[in-house]
Amino acid sequence: MADKKAQLIIEGAAPVELPILTGTVGPDVIDVRGLTVTGRFTFDPGFMSTASCESKITYIDGDNGILLHRGYPIEQLAEKSDYLETCYLLLNGELPTADQKAQFVSTVKNHTMVHEQLKTFFNGFRRDAHPMAVMCGVVGALSAFYHDSLDIKNPQHREISAIRLVAKMPTLAAMVYKYSMGQPMMYPRNDLSYAENFLHMMFNTPCEIKPISPVLAKAMDRIFILHADHEQNASTSTVRLAGSSGANPFACIAAGIAALWGPAHGGANEAVLSMLDEIGDVSNIDKYIAKAKDKNDPFKLMGFGHRVYKNRDPRATVMKQTCDEVLKELGITNDPQLELAMRLEEIALTDPYFIERSLYPNVDFYSGIILKAIGIPTSMFTVIFALARTVGWISHWKEMLSSPYKIGRPRQLYTGYESRDIPKLEDRK
Ligand code: CMC
Repeated sequence: MADKKAQLIIEGAAPVELPILTGTVGPDVIDVRGLTVTGRFTFDPGFMSTASCESKITYIDGDNGILLHRGYPIEQLAEKSDYLETCYLLLNGELPTADQKAQFVSTVKNHTMVHEQLKTFFNGFRRDAHPMAVMCGVVGALSAFYHDSLDIKNPQHREISAIRLVAKMPTLAAMVYKYSMGQPMMYPRNDLSYAENFLHMMFNTPCEIKPISPVLAKAMDRIFILHADHEQNASTSTVRLAGSSGANPFACIAAGIAALWGPAHGGANEAVLSMLDEIGDVSNIDKYIAKAKDKNDPFKLMGFGHRVYKNRDPRATVMKQTCDEVLKELGITNDPQLELAMRLEEIALTDPYFIERSLYPNVDFYSGIILKAIGIPTSMFTVIFALARTVGWISHWKEMLSSPYKIGRPRQLYTGYESRDIPKLEDRK
């Protein structure tokens, strides 16, 4: 792994030799761990040049628009696999055999219900609370219910917690929605697929059970697959960091949900719809494009650009195809907001400002449109992202815990006061 070396020349000090590590694919990595002996360390806010861990789960080549889970391209997973199979792959490293798949699906289904007492937690929240606020609370609260799987040193406990999280997230997400609507919460139905069951718990009521459209269930499943993992993004890094202190898995996932909430991360799909609302009409597009380009204006085109994809986001390509299928199934042809979205997409793909900066539509641009068409309110969009990403978070958590690791503790470049004495109150200005 480390046959090449880099040499660091520090003025007035002996050169430092640093090993260069080589991954399976992707750029080489300079191992700076040996730097501590020099009394110096590196400065990299935003982690633009820093790998925080070694991982075998997901590979992204942002320049070429490639996303692989355990080596399999995301386009193939979206086309030939389903969400639970993708979950198995992320958690276990290989696609399941037919028997393993049947066993995994059945185990997940055994865990879809949540403890009945968890329902009472919801009453503590205002009905108009943001669903992500409620999710942070109720997912964290799972640690108060499932004591029997909290020993993080026990691989079996880690496995059960992972399954519980994957199985219970749709139930909790739908409960959050039903609570906000003032409707009775629906129990999961294990005769349905993962995506069908989620749509059932979201949209059916005890007095009216409608069949779930296979096209919409497939679209939902694809949304889950496309959001399942994305290597060391802000929320996954948060889960790893929280986990590195020995926190229990439910608490770690609650931390991940909080990190995902922000509009620069998972909150972007909700922000896309809010932005379309704000723009209002195609006649206002030029004004908003000018705002997006203006360095003195904080406005950004939500759903465009990505920290790692400097070419097309491969998830966006699959999502756009799914978007077309859903709109056709639902007979939506002349929705003004959609027209606005399509016009924005067209401009961003042809305007030199966006081309020069490689600001392509990302996965959230299309997922927002699909979710809206399915009838999911915008405030639930990030919850759905969290539901789907839970398997990625917990796979990274499991990976970290199954090899030697240290508590995550970044350093800082201190630029505050040097040591000083406290003046008397009457002498302070
Ligand atoms: N609209 C207008 N200009 C933009 C945008 C945008 N959406 N995104 C980046 N830029 C400009 C930015 O002003 C900068 O210009 P200049 O070089 O002239 O200073 C240049 O493009 C590079 O941007 P950056 O902010 O350095 O890029 P970053 O890698 O730090 O940020 C990002 C990536 C995703 C946070 C940012 O593109 C953004 O805020 N996009 C909108 C929010 C969004 O859609 N987020 C979802 C990401 S996909 C889901 C996920 O994986 O979480």
